[in-house]
Amino acid sequence: MKIFIDSANIEQIREVNSWGILDGVTTNPTLVAKEKADFGSIVKEICEIVDGPISAEAISTEVDEIVGEARKLAAVHKNIVVKIPMTEDGLKATKMLSKEGIKVNMTLVFSPAQALLACKAGAKYISPFVGRLDDVGHDGMDIVSQILDILDNYDFDTEVIVASVRHPGHVVEAARMGAHIATIPYDVLKKMFKHPLTDAGIERFLQDWQKVAKR
Ligand code: E4P
Repeated sequence: MKIFIDSANIEQIREVNSWGILDGVTTNPTLVAKEKADFGSIVKEICEIVDGPISAEAISTEVDEIVGEARKLAAVHKNIVVKIPMTEDGLKATKMLSKEGIKVNMTLVFSPAQALLACKAGAKYISPFVGRLDDVGHDGMDIVSQILDILDNYDFDTEVIVASVRHPGHVVEAARMGAHIATIPYDVLKKMFKHPLTDAGIERFLQDWQKVAKR
């Protein structure tokens, strides 16, 4: 499974990229709003750090504006993927852009029916938001499982990005289901490292090694 970081923070992206496990980045307007720099320079800098798909979101809502915005974003760097929300205009834009070879990440996907339409429109990626589904009492990962079943039945070129990840359990479940990608916030990526038995094991080895060193 590919691992993306869900962040617009350059330091976080740089750090996780240095671990050697990072395959791409997703951003969204909320994540960009948390940073001081402007959107354009953030996106350019991310592209210089990470050699993989970098999702940048179009904020227009009408088909022609979405397409215009997407073309400008795609021109910034070859790795840019344009994030477009799942709406009727978003679908039309996705169809047009995919014909031009511009990769689309259809975002704010909350149902298998939406996912099917996004695949048919030619989206390269679809992002079901599992955490937000869990928040309203649905089982986000069950929606992912249904979407993967649909993809198994046909020959779409679409990859599933498990998004709105809240904890390492979401990531493990995504990998067990065979989701193509999980986009993971920095704090969850850090939690994936941690296990109390690893910490206790290191402490014990170091203590025991002191005894050896004293000989
Ligand atoms: C996905 O690409 C989105 O940026 C993201 O995962 C949204 O997550 P949230 O529900 O934590 O805002």
